[in-house]
Amino acid sequence: MTTTLSSFPPQPASSIPVRDVRTSPADLLHYGRDWTHSFEPAPSAIALPESVGEVQALVRWANQTRTPLVPSGGRTGLSGGAVATHGEVVVSMERMRSILSFDAADRALTVQAGVTTQAVQEAAAAHGLFYPVDFASRGSAQIGGNIATNAGGIKVLRYGMTRHWVSGLKVVTGAGELLEFNRGLAKNATGYDFRHLFIGSEGTLGIVVEATLQLTGQPPAQQVMVLGLPALDAVMAVFEQLRQRLTLSAFEFFTDRTLHHVLATGAQRLFETSTPYYVLAEFDENEEAALAAFTAMTDSGLLSDGVLSTTQAQAQSLWRLRESITESIAAYKPYKNDIAVRVSTVPAFLRQADALFASQYPGFDVIWFGHIGDGNLHISVLRPKGMGDAEFLATCGQVTSQLGSLLTQLGGSVSAEHGIGLLKKPFLGCTRNASEIALMRQVKRVFDPNGIMNPGKVFD
Ligand code: MLT
Ligand code: ZN
Repeated sequence: MTTTLSSFPPQPASSIPVRDVRTSPADLLHYGRDWTHSFEPAPSAIALPESVGEVQALVRWANQTRTPLVPSGGRTGLSGGAVATHGEVVVSMERMRSILSFDAADRALTVQAGVTTQAVQEAAAAHGLFYPVDFASRGSAQIGGNIATNAGGIKVLRYGMTRHWVSGLKVVTGAGELLEFNRGLAKNATGYDFRHLFIGSEGTLGIVVEATLQLTGQPPAQQVMVLGLPALDAVMAVFEQLRQRLTLSAFEFFTDRTLHHVLATGAQRLFETSTPYYVLAEFDENEEAALAAFTAMTDSGLLSDGVLSTTQAQAQSLWRLRESITESIAAYKPYKNDIAVRVSTVPAFLRQADALFASQYPGFDVIWFGHIGDGNLHISVLRPKGMGDAEFLATCGQVTSQLGSLLTQLGGSVSAEHGIGLLKKPFLGCTRNASEIALMRQVKRVFDPNGIMNPGKVFD
């Protein structure tokens, strides 16, 4: 007979071996969900450990009692990876938010998992250095969650994903063992690098408790340009032109429909002309080259209009147009796609996905934006007025299956940076084949033999 988690009776919250355990309805709601808002939160308790010892005691208790655990960071995830829908105990890392050490020679910061991305960026800056992983939710998202989802964001084009910046990891595995991976080393050729298995594992193998993060030198002053484009097929041509003339750190895309929602929150229109497509480029300050690129692209018909920042305040207000998108559409509880294709395949993807959405989402407001310079697009579908949760999710699921087939055909991914969680689980097979998924299950069993870590997420 196989023993499943449900063969064991639920445990009283008073038996959880953590000092701060909360069970009020408000706490269960607050800690039981992420930004997905598509799933009903129903955790049985929230545990807020204060030390690695408490995390270990909790995981050992969960093994003895077969209690499912959901690791939780800033709950800014967009795939339901940190939602607790089945009486799980949520493990919030928010009390473990100390910056433990800085080493100038290593240019490395060691932090507890509950430190926010912004706090890491600020600590790096206080030492004259730079932590380049960045996104709009920086103030709430926590390093543990960034690692669990291999967070990307707006500067991947130049600096890569979270994975590139983690040189050491301390984890409590699903079996309750405390392990330290890679010790902050730049070079370490000693067999399997388990650090990289945990990065992007979405809490299914264990709980990240500490990380050593590499820092880099501060970049030169940055300038930002927002350009208006008359046609979708001009986007990657503009990217190529800018890439040849400027040192880019970001190249973002959004449509006029998308901008419409941001403007509705009170933001200022950029320029008089309204164009169907926009790109935002950030680059090492170089006004002369930027203006030359702008003139050449306008003359060749790639651009209709544009605006270039000349002060940091202007650069920030241009960024605000892009970074406010998620918040500006949040009230619609959008269904989010987060796809990736190779940069060379972006034009083909844009053409085919545009046709797919136009035919399959008639009358829906489809919001396109994303980090197009690294091949990642977010396509958010807004819920039409009056449509219920179930019908909306089912419709979007159907179209996402077709999108998944397109991505399989184009060699792309159904999740670039948000993770699989619960929301994208039905589509994992569009990007990973059956052998890979079977191997993932075996890997999970090695680190989490009783299946207590975030069960039901990523795969069943
Ligand atoms: C972004 O790039 O703004 C985020 O990934 C959030 C989103 O897709 O809504
Ligand atoms: Zn994004």
